[in-house]
Amino acid sequence: MLHHYTVSDVTVPDVAAGHDTTAANRARQDFTGVESVWLFGYGSLIYKVDFPFLERRVATIQGWTRRFWQGSHDHRGTHAHPGRVVTLVPEAGAVCTGVAYRIAPATLEYLDHREKNGYLRFTTMLDFGDGSPAQGLVYIATTANAAWLGEASEAEIARHIATAVGPSGSNREYVLKLAQALRELGANDPHVFAIEAALRSL
Ligand code: SIN
Repeated sequence: MLHHYTVSDVTVPDVAAGHDTTAANRARQDFTGVESVWLFGYGSLIYKVDFPFLERRVATIQGWTRRFWQGSHDHRGTHAHPGRVVTLVPEAGAVCTGVAYRIAPATLEYLDHREKNGYLRFTTMLDFGDGSPAQGLVYIATTANAAWLGEASEAEIARHIATAVGPSGSNREYVLKLAQALRELGANDPHVFAIEAALRSL
């Protein structure tokens, strides 16, 4: 049994994804013989933990920054009026703080469904700050996915978020919970905090 997952992504990273990435994600990595895998969460996966895990650790990943540039049709918005949720975009020198969960590969079945609106599983290196990095997975929605909304000013993003609501609740709540969770981790994220402040002042 392999304790940690150590194989690279099977498919090409920037494969265009439709509105439902569940099937694409199933084909992306092979967990045969793998007992557990680290999953890095940087958005709702930090504060909404409705899945089983074996271990939870604060972690960082390098070269990625959190941005409210992804549309949400199934959680914090609808097809007619998508919400805005976070994804990661590449940025040289950036460090993103989140929470890593060690999970059984079978748990990905649920998580693929939860993250199906454009997110694909990528492999990445996780840093736990103790000199023992590990490989893990992270769900990233790239520019190639059908729900991508892209860049806008933080004020504009806040105005958009203020009006969106979906099956998982209001888009505003997603921001406030994420900002609060990041504060609890001691993470400074100027983008998230600026949108939170703009939302509170509306
Ligand atoms: C994540 O939390 O890691 C992915 C994005 C989200 O579900 O908010």
